[in-house]
Amino acid sequence: MRDTDTNISAAVVRAAKDDPAAGAALEALGRHGNVYAVGGIVRDTVLGVTGKDVDLLVQGVSPDDVQAALERLPGRVDYTGKHFGVFRYRASGGGDVEVALPRTERSVGAGHRDFEVVSDHTLAVEEDLARRDFTGNAIAVNLATGEIIDPYRGREDLRGGLLRTVSEDSFRDDPLRILRALSSVSRHGLAATFETAQAMAQHAAGLHELPAERVAAELDKTLAGSDPVAALNLAEMTGVLREVLPDVAAMEGFDQRSKYHSLLLHDHTKAVVGWVVEQGGDVDLRWAALLHDVGKPTSQWIDEHGYGHYYQADGGVGADHEIVGADMARRILNDLKFPTERITRIVRLVRHHMFPPFKTETAARRFVNRVGPDYTDDLLTLRWADVDGKEKDFDSNVPQMRALLEKIRAEKQPTGIAMLAIDGHDLLAAGHEQGPSMGATLRMLLDAVIEDATLNTRDNLFDLLRNSGVGKETKA
Ligand code: CTP
Repeated sequence: MRDTDTNISAAVVRAAKDDPAAGAALEALGRHGNVYAVGGIVRDTVLGVTGKDVDLLVQGVSPDDVQAALERLPGRVDYTGKHFGVFRYRASGGGDVEVALPRTERSVGAGHRDFEVVSDHTLAVEEDLARRDFTGNAIAVNLATGEIIDPYRGREDLRGGLLRTVSEDSFRDDPLRILRALSSVSRHGLAATFETAQAMAQHAAGLHELPAERVAAELDKTLAGSDPVAALNLAEMTGVLREVLPDVAAMEGFDQRSKYHSLLLHDHTKAVVGWVVEQGGDVDLRWAALLHDVGKPTSQWIDEHGYGHYYQADGGVGADHEIVGADMARRILNDLKFPTERITRIVRLVRHHMFPPFKTETAARRFVNRVGPDYTDDLLTLRWADVDGKEKDFDSNVPQMRALLEKIRAEKQPTGIAMLAIDGHDLLAAGHEQGPSMGATLRMLLDAVIEDATLNTRDNLFDLLRNSGVGKETKA
């Protein structure tokens, strides 16, 4: 074995033994048959990144004997996958491990759900590896001997940064793997080989068979990875984007015909996603970056000079692309069955991504009030990233806007009804009638203090009420 291989097997064996659940299962099962670490842990070790959970494969032990051996351990055994040859052992001290028998899988219909899984403890580990998606995921390490079983040269591909399918039927067998290819590119820094990209394109239509939740989960992993832009490029090139996010694909090649934008819309969008990625790991902000201009193609109008515009002009021509885009984002994310809170946040970021720069505290208070206090920082990040091209011509107003926001936050300047110096109880006590007019009164007071924060004292607000004729008899 090469030195690097010795290191890999040693690291994988150590990871398995150090993991409380995997270590105990290994100890118990190792007496009866061959136990291997497979999948993500081996791949991540070859890639030199901290491995995720250890998944075990046990060969040569009958399901009943696996079950009996695991049951003797302290903790619990989950049998929900037993029919498919998969057990999950939860150690009493916390942590769990998947213990699988060798399996072969094959499609018995067109869809992801039409799948037959055959488990057989007498199968060789190589046969199990043959049904896996990518060569880099099809490596096993024998945890007793340290032997690396790598029939598809997965290590070589991983070291070369390549994503390659184990079999040419990989995507036909399971279209979800087309999206796993995208998430692998983004998360593991791999590039699909020509043949793999070609196979993705060939089987992209099969993506319609997948349940929305599975698509969403894999797209989410893709956007959460370190290089979603590489994955988006691959998704465009293979036509996969058109199948899973047709509205995003509609930005491909779209000429903005603008003085302010030299890039085609999809290139601009990817640049924004890339800049947002550099700002941190917030996946919803990345979704917002991906969708921020999705409303542009259907909002465009062209002026007499041939320039494109993306807001509703006099006479009703064109549309405000951020409003159209927010509606589209809601539909897209609803279709993907995203949780409501995530939809709300992403849609709101898309809806408010266009705003004139604010240069005064008053304007900053108006902004916070309009977009909501939880959205201001993200909107500024989005705006900072919303630049054209690869040059760092970021909006120079953003640092000043951030400073203004910090100041009004630190000084607790009023930007919402809850920050007013009086509340509904005060109004009631002062004789204001109960009912919807109360909300309108508070809103009127808020508008006043947003314009002039010094008005936010009890005396000033009651004065204001008297002067404005609301509840004439109210007393401070
Ligand atoms: N696998 C596959 N086809 C799928 C899903 C999974 O071939 N549609 C295989 C892969 O070989 C993978 C293994 O099953 O390595 C375990 O899958 P999973 O735990 O989902 O992914 P990992 O690759 O282990 O890692 P991660 O969770 O980080 O994606």
